[in-house]
Amino acid sequence: MHHRIFITGGAGFIGSNFIRYLMRTHLDTAILNYDKLTYAGNLKNLEDIQAGYDYTFVKGDICDQEAVFQEFHRFAPDIVVNFAAESHVDRSIIDSSEFIRTNIFGVKVLLDAAMKYGAMKFIQISTDEVYGSLGPEGSFAESSPLNPRSPYSASKAGADFLARAYFSTYGLPVTITRSSNNYGPYQFPEKLIPLTILNSLQKKQIPVYGDGLNIRDWIHVDDHCAAIDAVMEKGLAGEIYNIGADNELTNISLVKSIIQRVSALHPGRGISEDLITHVEDRPGHDRRYAIDSARIRRDLSWRPAIGFEEGLSRTIRWYLDHPDWVSSVLNRDYLAYYEMNYGARKKIR
Ligand code: NAD
Ligand code: TYD
Repeated sequence: MHHRIFITGGAGFIGSNFIRYLMRTHLDTAILNYDKLTYAGNLKNLEDIQAGYDYTFVKGDICDQEAVFQEFHRFAPDIVVNFAAESHVDRSIIDSSEFIRTNIFGVKVLLDAAMKYGAMKFIQISTDEVYGSLGPEGSFAESSPLNPRSPYSASKAGADFLARAYFSTYGLPVTITRSSNNYGPYQFPEKLIPLTILNSLQKKQIPVYGDGLNIRDWIHVDDHCAAIDAVMEKGLAGEIYNIGADNELTNISLVKSIIQRVSALHPGRGISEDLITHVEDRPGHDRRYAIDSARIRRDLSWRPAIGFEEGLSRTIRWYLDHPDWVSSVLNRDYLAYYEMNYGARKKIR
């Protein structure tokens, strides 16, 4: 179907993969990518955009109402997909100001724009982190209570509540997706998987928070993109869809498996588990996430297609094959952040 899709945050990790995904699968779609290009936004993520596709990039802040309204007026989208956010828990612990501004106020501006210019669908990209932390058993369903425990997840939960309020109060056709942890190409190295790949390659210490037994439920970004596409085409307004691939791992086993793979690709370089350093835990560190995605599988016939072993190998290979991208993101700002987040953390083992 022909769509005009207003994508925010399309220069980030998931947004840029989603644009690439649309270009492979929706040949007659018009895309406007509206992104502020924060530290996490990178136009190099979109260098392989095909010529001839109806694609426009606009640099802008979702909190800037005048600019957002102007772009909605000009572009007249029928669908809005909001990826734009501050996305890293550790940064939210250092300072949550931008999280509150972008993740909550920015969403209000986008919701108002969709109201004013009549978008037919508003997809708010949320996260399983809004549900809080699980014990050893059970998983998050869409009906689970929200119990966010980091400034990041609290700001995302705030956005979810606001988006739902626009549905209840004004009838704006909002749909919320809550995915588990994503991995894949173009992920900024502050996150665990690319951080472990890149530190292994540089034989730099790999900081594991606490005992390393926290559990995350991993999904390949392309599977997440396919799920968002299914929601775009078939999802119901007012509904929430959890997205996950049933792939729970402890951080320590994940880190060890990455080291093993990187080391196998570079034999003789001395890349080993000795690089692992247990450091002081993240404050309020959620112990376990596990997502029940039965609803989207049943109602929208979506299911993940990429096995974790295969997805992880492809991801590692991608980082090895893109040294220019890697050196562009391992810049001075990143090193300053690295020092701020890890410099004063005590080694515990
Ligand atoms: P990211 O940090 O890689 O990218 C965020 C993008 O948003 C960047 O391009 C940045 O420039 C842009 N942005 C930030 N503030 C902006 C503003 N005020 N105005 C316009 N653009 C702005 O994030 P990501 O990992 O791609 O995550 C995308 C979305 O998916 C987020 O909403 C996040 O909460 C959600 N999510 C992420 C994961 C994950 O594992 N990465 C899992 C579930 C949900
Ligand atoms: P992260 O990639 O930051 O995602 P999230 O916190 O949103 O789940 O972290 C994934 C897991 O890895 C989480 O349990 C925290 C842990 N972690 C470390 O142990 N060391 C690190 O340096 C980072 C960034 C994360």
